[in-house]
Amino acid sequence: MPVPEATPAGSGQAHRATPQVEEPAISARGVRKTYGEGEVAVHALRGIDLEIQPEEFVVLLGPSGSGKTTLLNLVGGIEPASAGEIEVSGRDVTELDEEGRTRFRRETVGFIFQFFNLIPTLTALENVELVAELGRGADRSAEMLERVGLGDRLNHFPAQLSGGEQQRVAVARALAGGPRILLGDEPTGALDLETGRTVLSLLHELSHELHQTVLLVTHNASIARMADRVLRMRDGSIVADRRNPAPTSAEQLDW
Ligand SMILES: Nc1ncnc2c1ncn2[C@@H]1O[C@H](COP(=O)(O)OP(=O)(O)OP(=O)(O)O)[C@@H](O)[C@H]1O
Ligand SMILES: [Mg+2]
Repeated sequence: MPVPEATPAGSGQAHRATPQVEEPAISARGVRKTYGEGEVAVHALRGIDLEIQPEEFVVLLGPSGSGKTTLLNLVGGIEPASAGEIEVSGRDVTELDEEGRTRFRRETVGFIFQFFNLIPTLTALENVELVAELGRGADRSAEMLERVGLGDRLNHFPAQLSGGEQQRVAVARALAGGPRILLGDEPTGALDLETGRTVLSLLHELSHELHQTVLLVTHNASIARMADRVLRMRDGSIVADRRNPAPTSAEQLDW
């Protein structure tokens, strides 16, 4: 971590009166990711520098192939970086081996994907419990399912739920273990407008309540209007980074 400047030389202070600087929730320095080698090498990330503060709600936009999923996977410890440094919640993710990344993911990160990724042979409640048990938080599985409006569907299997309901289970699952960081890859990509709004609205409200930091990938620029901050990627680089002075609520979005 960058350490705040020490007191000026010669001040002779035993106690450093440095202000409490909060660590970024996510910080990336010179992050690169290359798939393959030589002539077939694909440079998915070409040097990412980024700091995301705790409790920020950040939307990541960019054309197909620009590196959005890759960046999310690196931040979430799904894949290792080829170069550079990533710190998430004070942990140096780039130093971790496979086992360390698995533990880090379970303890620190919640994921929401485009196609829900629920386990078909488990009920809604069991799907959420599975992840909650792996994490470190108290088991709030049933409570989280209540919160996303599925308290009466706990014992239904994914095939018995609509797409929007399955995604609400996935939101409950991502939040149940109490992760510090929430990563979403096109979580509304497979949903219609109304359902997408409901899911986003729940995500926004619950993550705020749980003091989580959110990084959300989308193709849909109108979702950016609800973000505190909007990043744009192109060809493996971040090409724009702007703060949203007045985020709108999910209900007010149209797309
Ligand atoms: N496992 C892999 N092996 C080889 N190349 C890969 C792999 N994963 C991603 N890539 C390449 O890395 C680049 C970035 O891919 P990435 O999936 O991050 O893009 P994206 O911005 O998420 O795109 P989309 O909006 O289509 O999901 C692309 O050129 C892609 O083909
Ligand atoms: Mg992607």
